[in-house]
Amino acid sequence: MTQITAIIVAAGSGERMNTNSEKSEIKIPKQYRKVKDKALINYSLDAFLNHEQINNVICVISEPHLHLYNETIMPHKKLKNHIIGGQTRQQSVKNALVHVRDNIPETDYVLIHDAARPLMTNEQVNNVIEPLISKQAKGVTLSCKAADSFRRGEENEKFVQAKEFVSRDNLYAIQTPQGFCFKTILEAHLHTQNLSHTDDTSLLTEIGEDILLAKGSRFNVKVTTNEDLLFVKKLL
Ligand code: CTP
Ligand code: MG
Repeated sequence: MTQITAIIVAAGSGERMNTNSEKSEIKIPKQYRKVKDKALINYSLDAFLNHEQINNVICVISEPHLHLYNETIMPHKKLKNHIIGGQTRQQSVKNALVHVRDNIPETDYVLIHDAARPLMTNEQVNNVIEPLISKQAKGVTLSCKAADSFRRGEENEKFVQAKEFVSRDNLYAIQTPQGFCFKTILEAHLHTQNLSHTDDTSLLTEIGEDILLAKGSRFNVKVTTNEDLLFVKKLL
């Protein structure tokens, strides 16, 4: 039977949130911030735990957040022991993939998801899994077609100078979850020399594999700033 392991990356420190505030709640890393009495990481986690095709779930966390993790997460038969992430998201994913190789080697496919995206749905998980198990691609990501117009900008001290226009035609924002053939993404992580990847599909592109863009949603926002948290609070 096909084995699918979900990896939730939650080892970041959320520096782009306002962590300088004196309010203690604001010092909590974003993935452990609560909306309606439930931490953001639990929204993401539940979507995988409740999905019938997902066999195992692993959270990648930061060692200093261990107490927060233990306070927030309840045991579940699909949920394996947490693992410790690295300095970058790429390193955190690599740690998880090596752990899966050593501890859940029967895994055929992995789904990788940002803990900071609490609004992902069961249907969107299906949109990632289907092309993988029907072998249409070795890498699939949720994505969302660009609606705004785009320009590059150059930041000065006082303002942002507009630079070249970037056409929105065929432009897609990349989201998570992203799904992969386990062996392919493991090899890509083990052999890449480029340590600046911010998503995992770019590692597969580096080794010449095609990626499919599956249908995500504009609601599947990643909480990056406090403004995003306000947006998510209105939707959850
Ligand atoms: N992440 C991770 N390990 C890291 C960095 C990030 O597991 N070393 C995770 C985050 O916890 C988050 C996801 O990757 O769920 C997306 O990263 P991002 O939104 O950049 O979160 P942070 O790195 O925490 O935020 P910031 O970049 O503002 O510090
Ligand atoms: Mg980051």
